[in-house]
Amino acid sequence: MTTDEVRASASDRCCLDFRVAARTPIYALIAFIFACLTACTDLDNRVSSEGRSAATPVGKEVAWWQRAVMYEIYVRSFKDSNGDGTGDLTGIASRLDYLANLGVDAIWITPFYPSPQVDFGYDVSGYTDVDPQFGTLGDFDRLVEEAHGQGIKVIIDLVLNHTSDRHPWFLASRSSRESPYRDWYVWRDAVNGGPPNRWASIFEPSAWTLDVKSDQYYYHAFYSAQPDLNWRNPAVEKAMFKCVRFWLERGVDGLRLDAFPTLFEDPLLRDEEPVDSSDGDERWYERFRYQHSMFPETYGVLRRLRQLSDSYARQVLLIPEAYLPTMADLAALYGDQDDLAQLPFNFFLANVDSLNAGAFRRVVSETESVLQGRWTTYVLGNHDLPRAIDRYGNPENDLKVAKLLATMLLTLRGTPFLYYGEEVGMVTTLPRTIDEVRDPIGRTGWPEEKGRDGERTPMQWTPDLHSGFSSANPWLRIPPSAIQRNVLSQGDDPHSVLNYYKRAIALRRQSAALQVGKYAPIGDHPGVFAYLRTTARQTMVVGLNMSSERVVLPLSQVGLEREGKLHVSLSSSGREGTSVASHQLVLDPFEALVGEYERGQDL
Ligand code: BGC
Repeated sequence: MTTDEVRASASDRCCLDFRVAARTPIYALIAFIFACLTACTDLDNRVSSEGRSAATPVGKEVAWWQRAVMYEIYVRSFKDSNGDGTGDLTGIASRLDYLANLGVDAIWITPFYPSPQVDFGYDVSGYTDVDPQFGTLGDFDRLVEEAHGQGIKVIIDLVLNHTSDRHPWFLASRSSRESPYRDWYVWRDAVNGGPPNRWASIFEPSAWTLDVKSDQYYYHAFYSAQPDLNWRNPAVEKAMFKCVRFWLERGVDGLRLDAFPTLFEDPLLRDEEPVDSSDGDERWYERFRYQHSMFPETYGVLRRLRQLSDSYARQVLLIPEAYLPTMADLAALYGDQDDLAQLPFNFFLANVDSLNAGAFRRVVSETESVLQGRWTTYVLGNHDLPRAIDRYGNPENDLKVAKLLATMLLTLRGTPFLYYGEEVGMVTTLPRTIDEVRDPIGRTGWPEEKGRDGERTPMQWTPDLHSGFSSANPWLRIPPSAIQRNVLSQGDDPHSVLNYYKRAIALRRQSAALQVGKYAPIGDHPGVFAYLRTTARQTMVVGLNMSSERVVLPLSQVGLEREGKLHVSLSSSGREGTSVASHQLVLDPFEALVGEYERGQDL
């Protein structure tokens, strides 16, 4: 497959309604599925009606995750330490120096628990252990200790909604209708000789699978190998919270809560209203209204989980994966008393379907106004979405676009989540034949739907065989682009994407305005997303030219003195260290620039 085909295919995938899509969410579906160290006491925590945010309260109020740069590691694909072609925990530990040097503050590790690997770890058959292919509990403890030693926090992925069908709880549950575990899952009688209703699974046509022996159907929001737990049974919560404690005792700093909105289903099993598919993507939520609504019980679980995590002396972070229909739904996940999750995933930025300055600006303005100053996340890529570089770039401009996107993620008011490999410009690399496909979505959907393997290929460390990921043949093919796009080759090139990420992260770390300052959009240029980040002592101007034209953007309306200057702190076209006028920004096509404002009298 040519590079063009790969990209076209990745972009087609965004249009399929039930799988990975940045814009539509399988993700719509799975979907549902700093102090300004300079302490600025004049800043409050409200958002004004113009969409200008107030800065975060300062000093001791700033939590670690507000300053942090997060980095998602797809454990199978980061680094293989034992030569079996699959990444593992010791492999991650061996790359902590790299991560510390990159400047990340926390890693989120995808599931490494015992699992038949039908959904690559998101089908858990034991919640308090490590799958032998990823290592041992001892390896996990060492990883946490060494990460902490490098100042890196560890976030693990908690799969609450479902287990594997090989989990002992499910084996017991399906063994007979009388089993004490029967009610731990969602079992229903057949209706008219078929499934209890017409609910669809996110990964399969029906969300119900018949257990022939006990002659009842069980419910699964995802694969039939991932039966949903019945969270209305208090025993389920009790058992799962015990598992949570197990990991919290081992020192983890946060929990990413997989597929959180799918925890509860409508007890009346109401069928979904038929949806007119010609309406496009907007109605995806309607299709799953009863299956995946945020029922009041869902908030109850989150509140109790927060109480549990708050009972630890350190600040433990909860990050629900929540593809939701509206920003107001996202706001509800914080709780009226801020007693639910501290950092629900905000996928609205990733839902923007093209490099569109106006669309990104609208998402950020809406985030600022609807969340009313609450701290958000910004994320463009993960293990379920085609890589952002392909969704927003093309082969001619993609390295520029990679720097543009990095600048946006790392300068917005919210915690950025990076996805491994984006820092070297890794591209989505789809399987060429069905035999190469590993993700079951790709196997059942081939050839229209090629699955999520494309965004899960091994990390590109070196230009060598297997890209330095493993000494063995890796579980997924190494992308041809690994020869140029790898950590080793980019390390010495000051203009590389990797070194740009390092500079951008370093800048964020040293700038109170970029970490916790107010956000205010500059103008409404259709091709340029520009904004200010300010504290009482620092003003940073960010200009992101998302167009193929050179643009001159007036800055006069944002109150910067004409005789001032912008000291260029970061530039995708090598202008760092220079000064430019502060009454207008001149940006080359696809250029990103961050400048610190210096008043005339300071010069
Ligand atoms: C994970 C997916 C997984 C699904 C089912 C998601 O939200 O990110 O990779 O397939 O949950 O567990």
